Amino acid sequence: MTNKKRVFWMNLVLIFALIVGLTLPATNVSAASKQKKTSKKVLVVYFSETGTTRSAAKNIKKATGGKLYQIKAADPYTSADLDYSNDNCRANVEQQDNSVRPKIKGKVKNIRKYDVIFVGYPIWWGKEPMIIRSFLESYNLKGKKIVPFCTSGGSGISGSMKGIKASAKGAKVVKGKDLTDMSYKSVEEWAKKKVK
Ligand SMILES: Cc1cc2nc3c(=O)[nH]c(=O)nc-3n(C[C@H](O)[C@H](O)[C@H](O)COP(=O)(O)O)c2cc1C
Repeated sequence: MTNKKRVFWMNLVLIFALIVGLTLPATNVSAASKQKKTSKKVLVVYFSETGTTRSAAKNIKKATGGKLYQIKAADPYTSADLDYSNDNCRANVEQQDNSVRPKIKGKVKNIRKYDVIFVGYPIWWGKEPMIIRSFLESYNLKGKKIVPFCTSGGSGISGSMKGIKASAKGAKVVKGKDLTDMSYKSVEEWAKKKVK
């Protein structure tokens, strides 16, 4: 092979390598941006008066990378309000009246951008606290996936599902879970499945 020919072939190989080198990362970038576009935006909403549901919510946030939002009552609950051994305490009175909608302080900013919304609460008298209905009824949740979770003294989540479904109009409410005493690993596994 003459020197001229050798230079020609070397140049050809170099140009080929350059083209492959330039196009491959571009394909990867577009695959990555596609991945980003399809990944779901997660909001983790919770109401918690003694901190148990808050811990569960924080675990879900950690597992999903979602944003945390705490539902706060405009008129905060005192410990006397939560004294369920007293028939006339605020929580007991509210839970006996399905039409009560306690007011909430503040709002979620731009709820439109979220695809999956975890909604957590303690079980009060077998169901979700009425303030959860206030929350669900104050937004347009059409097309959103709602994932209920709770903590309880043993009642579990089933008694709250009917109320959640009725208040989250137009949303897809999936099977909820009582996360009381669940390890981070188990919560992580469950939460990640719900985001898919
Ligand atoms: C007013 C009131 C009613 C409750 N009713 C029930 C109930 O019916 N069943 C149950 O298992 N636990 C019941 N509990 C216990 C809570 O569900 C439980 O302690 C929960 O983990 C508290 O969550 P938090 O710390 O996030 O507020 C009740 C607690 C309160 C304050």
